[in-house]
Amino acid sequence: MLKGRSLIEPLDLSPEEMNELFVLAEEIEKNPKAWKSSLQGHILATLFFEPSTRTRLSFEAAMQRLGGSCLGFAESSSSSVSKGECLADTIRIVAGYSDIIVMRNPKEGAALVASRYSDIPVINAGDGGHHHPTQTLADLLTIKKLRGQIRDLTIGFCGDLRFGRTVHSLVEALTRYSGIKMIFISPPELTIPGYLKSGILTQKQISFKETDSLDKVMGDLDILYMTRVQKERFFNEEDYIRLKDSYVLTPEKMLAAKKDAMILHPLPRVNEISLEVDSDPRAMYFKQARQGMFIRMALLQSILGE
Ligand code: CP
Repeated sequence: MLKGRSLIEPLDLSPEEMNELFVLAEEIEKNPKAWKSSLQGHILATLFFEPSTRTRLSFEAAMQRLGGSCLGFAESSSSSVSKGECLADTIRIVAGYSDIIVMRNPKEGAALVASRYSDIPVINAGDGGHHHPTQTLADLLTIKKLRGQIRDLTIGFCGDLRFGRTVHSLVEALTRYSGIKMIFISPPELTIPGYLKSGILTQKQISFKETDSLDKVMGDLDILYMTRVQKERFFNEEDYIRLKDSYVLTPEKMLAAKKDAMILHPLPRVNEISLEVDSDPRAMYFKQARQGMFIRMALLQSILGE
């Protein structure tokens, strides 16, 4: 039962709870009219201290499609945080105006802190380079829908694996499925964090390897999860400029991919997937973004609904 619960990290949800969300998301997508008033009278607060297109707007669309309404801010400069108000006070105040809070914040751990000051559920919409659990739900739903099941897959994560919170969350969630092999493709400066390698991946005996060459492993991948280099997490621009175009997926590179491979990307894309790849039937990132809305509808419904 998700009723009244917060979601801070993907493993806050049991595998059964995730499955129930996938089933409900598919049900909602098939028959959206049946859900159009299910959260009537409920208010969602979106507190975004960092920019967002997909996460914020898909949450707001999700709430409105369920009959609820939304309030919030899209940047901290338009809130009293800019006057020096602390996160704890902001959360306590907003919790008095709404029924659920969705928050994105540049600081790792901010969502957990928020949940401790809130007497309504808090959903982490991204906390720094740490976690982004609802993106993971969208990613897994996309894989399940398009592949039929989540198992026996070789998944390549490519790009900024150090700062990419969507990667960290998805890696943790995938450790629960059988037959998953992971290949981490990044420049040496942006490798997957050590805490994941020596922690959950080792503990759960997940097969993984690291490389800096996408070309060498392209033909092995069932799923290629591309990511952008996270400019906002770099301490100096020089490093960002040097690393930002480490990998650019082009139609030529796609020639080496499996015929039924799936290209995913949490988006936004900057330059790491060329526009020509969009018409390749293996490019699934826009479908993935749309699934994000249905899974968020399922999540809001499960947390707030009767
Ligand atoms: N995938 C994702 O989090 O996109 P936004 O930054 O646009 O929300």
